[in-house]
Amino acid sequence: MINVQSNNNLILSQVALGCMNLPLEDEIKTEEIIEYALSENINYFDTADLYQFGRNEEVTGKILSRYRSRHDFTIGTKVGNEFDRHLQQKIGWNPTAKYIKGQVKNSLHRMNVDSIDLYQLHGGTIEDDKDETIEAFEDLKAEGIIKSYGLSSIRPNVIDYYIRNSNIDTLMLQFNPIDNRPLELMTSLEDVVVMARGPLMQGLFTQKSAEVLQHKFPDGMFNYSSDELNAILGELMEVSDDLTALSYRYILDSANIIVSGVSTLEQLENNMDSYRKSLEINSSDFSGILQKFKKLRYEEHRI
Ligand SMILES: NC(=O)c1ccc[n+]([C@@H]2O[C@H](COP(=O)([O-])OP(=O)(O)OC[C@H]3O[C@@H](n4cnc5c(N)ncnc54)[C@H](OP(=O)(O)O)[C@@H]3O)[C@@H](O)[C@H]2O)c1
Repeated sequence: MINVQSNNNLILSQVALGCMNLPLEDEIKTEEIIEYALSENINYFDTADLYQFGRNEEVTGKILSRYRSRHDFTIGTKVGNEFDRHLQQKIGWNPTAKYIKGQVKNSLHRMNVDSIDLYQLHGGTIEDDKDETIEAFEDLKAEGIIKSYGLSSIRPNVIDYYIRNSNIDTLMLQFNPIDNRPLELMTSLEDVVVMARGPLMQGLFTQKSAEVLQHKFPDGMFNYSSDELNAILGELMEVSDDLTALSYRYILDSANIIVSGVSTLEQLENNMDSYRKSLEINSSDFSGILQKFKKLRYEEHRI
């Protein structure tokens, strides 16, 4: 496993475990996945206060705490979405200093940790009082409550503001051969660790591609129809039947880290095999087919 070091000295594995879709209802299965991830030297675990309204932090934090004496790892969580745990509902967006400083205590408690390695703003709008938000993260860092902070956003104007006016260490955005919108931003992101979420487009870049297309994307996505997706994935499969490896290779040519989500151990085992294969792939071997993917751009939130 290749590791990446952030400006703020976080050591992050090139493949991270996205915890959002872990089978939390079965803690034994969840622990098997986390244990396997650690055995594969995955050392970055990505959660959020919002995932399962606090339960994701609780379960992943509890399981990971059992491995802390044997493994070095980094946990990232996120803040900014107000939610009602009892109603299991998101209530609104709240990037105020008061809210962030209050919520960090809840996340520490849920994850049973003394400090948070990576605290990410879970979205953001250009209308926010961004300087207040940045100051809150800086205060938490100065107090040692968090080690580092980052942004998860797909809004170019918000990303640009944080890149120019804060010390964000990481930026998380959806990135894969279909959602290639982040490409236009990459040159401005050289000083942060770019974390690609959604690397498999919910399973579209896997052996289950046909099923996922039919069940999750029957109407296509972005400006692709379902038929267009089917055709382009078919052409990609002529290059290699390991679509996961191709997507990982594509992502790692531009981003630093892949935040891959799984709901079963088998998926993670397959994905790790594909990660190893991706390291052997020469991107130029499939550059022709990559040209066929539409060059998308973020149409909104540009100014
Ligand atoms: N705004 C944000 O900050 C934000 C938003 C979204 C995600 N994230 C983070 O990014 C992580 C990854 O995002 P994502 O879940 O969208 O990523 P993804 O890796 O594109 O999709 C994960 C899903 O793909 C399917 N899958 C994965 N491996 C597979 C395999 N080998 N074979 C068949 N299907 C497979 C599974 O779907 P099934 O479970 O249906 O089988 C899995 O839950 C999340 O866990 C979370 O940590 C952050």
